Amino acid sequence: MDADLQKKITEALRDPKNLGEMADADSIGTVGNSDCGEMLRMWVKFKEQNGRKVIDRATFQSFGCETAIAVASLATELIRGKTAEEALALKTEELAGELGPLPPMKIHCAQLVEGALRSALDPANTTQSAPAAVAPAPVAVGVKTSGNLVDSLNPQPKPGGVKLVFLDPKKPGN
Ligand code: FES
Repeated sequence: MDADLQKKITEALRDPKNLGEMADADSIGTVGNSDCGEMLRMWVKFKEQNGRKVIDRATFQSFGCETAIAVASLATELIRGKTAEEALALKTEELAGELGPLPPMKIHCAQLVEGALRSALDPANTTQSAPAAVAPAPVAVGVKTSGNLVDSLNPQPKPGGVKLVFLDPKKPGN
């Protein structure tokens, strides 16, 4: 990665914007990248403004690399005041904003942010507290649609405890 981009990322990480869970979000989107193992969840809250439903604020949590966090920080600022359609029309490189063009090996980091945004703006991912609530749909990587991202990776044990399976020493392969 070139020094200028690293400097911009470091700058964005010094004071990342819109970090954290949003309790009263209208919609939530989560995506993961199976190649690098990064995950990102985005919360979006809408408001009415001049007869338009626009994004009031968006927040995120990430188990992602520095680039994904920097892009998410910039993108959540960028989409504020836009309608869902306007936010969805943004291209990956626009979401990366002032970071400028990303090197090929880092483009997927911005795509992770774009994926979380698209997932959050998908009407199927509207939370139950939203005005036109629909049941939350499965998210992109199969984690639950609400709550803290950490909780998604540390699911509570199911009632009934641990199931023990005893191996039969006489069976081939055991
Ligand atoms: Fe995979 Fe950045 S390296 S999201």
